[in-house]
Amino acid sequence: MQSDIGTGGYGRVAKAFHWLIVALLAAQYAVGSIMPHIGRNTLNQGWVAWHLWIGATILAVIVLRFLWRLRNPVPVDVTLAPWERMVSLATHWTLYILVFAMTLLGWAAANSRGWTVKLLGLVPLPQIAPQGSEWGHEAGDIHNVLVYVLLGFIVLHVAGALYHYFVKGDRVLQRMLP
Ligand code: HEM
Ligand code: HEM
Repeated sequence: MQSDIGTGGYGRVAKAFHWLIVALLAAQYAVGSIMPHIGRNTLNQGWVAWHLWIGATILAVIVLRFLWRLRNPVPVDVTLAPWERMVSLATHWTLYILVFAMTLLGWAAANSRGWTVKLLGLVPLPQIAPQGSEWGHEAGDIHNVLVYVLLGFIVLHVAGALYHYFVKGDRVLQRMLP
């Protein structure tokens, strides 16, 4: 493991997963912001249908990514101070959890509006909330709040990466670059 010290980094698959999720989240935030506000008479078409399509893809990719991560652990950069390791680990875990939670809550919200979520537009996922259910509706409300919480952690995470590159001048950012 000596050779990992300081410069060790993520493998090709982990990097591909990381940047794929970044791209999907960027698209999802864009679509979520331009789609019409969802009300009683909103139909699952146009941007709304895109939102469910991208959302189901994010769910599949984040699950695969996390399973890959469990089987391929990457040591924290050992040149980091203990507090930096703690903040970075906590942020990474929070990001995984929030992305996963967002997809489940969005899925429940969609079901409560009577919409079936399909993976790649083909494979229907089971109903996790009955149509018209109170909790499915609340899941939608929480989803709409977590939109900003996740954004906050993304800003923190990106600020951390830039801090390493520009302020500390270490190789943490490079660990995730192609
Ligand atoms: C991490 C992934 C996701 C992000 C970043 C995201 C983002 C957003 C945004 C920005 C909005 C608009 C909030 C507003 O109008 O105030 C929204 C609403 C919504 N999203 Fe997502 N979304 C994600 C995943 C999903 C998934 C997987 C589904 C369903 C399969 C979904 C279904 C919905 C629904 C139904 C609404 C309307 C909620 C309601 O008012 O009842 N989202 N999302
Ligand atoms: C331009 C934007 C981004 C940059 C520059 C960036 C940079 C990085 C870097 C350098 C690492 C490796 C840190 C280390 O060496 O320990 C990393 C890891 C990670 N990033 Fe990002 N990131 C970005 C966006 C995002 C977004 C939007 C998410 C949202 C989910 C995210 C989630 C993660 C996670 C979960 C890890 C930990 C990976 C693991 O150890 O399993 N990143 N990122």
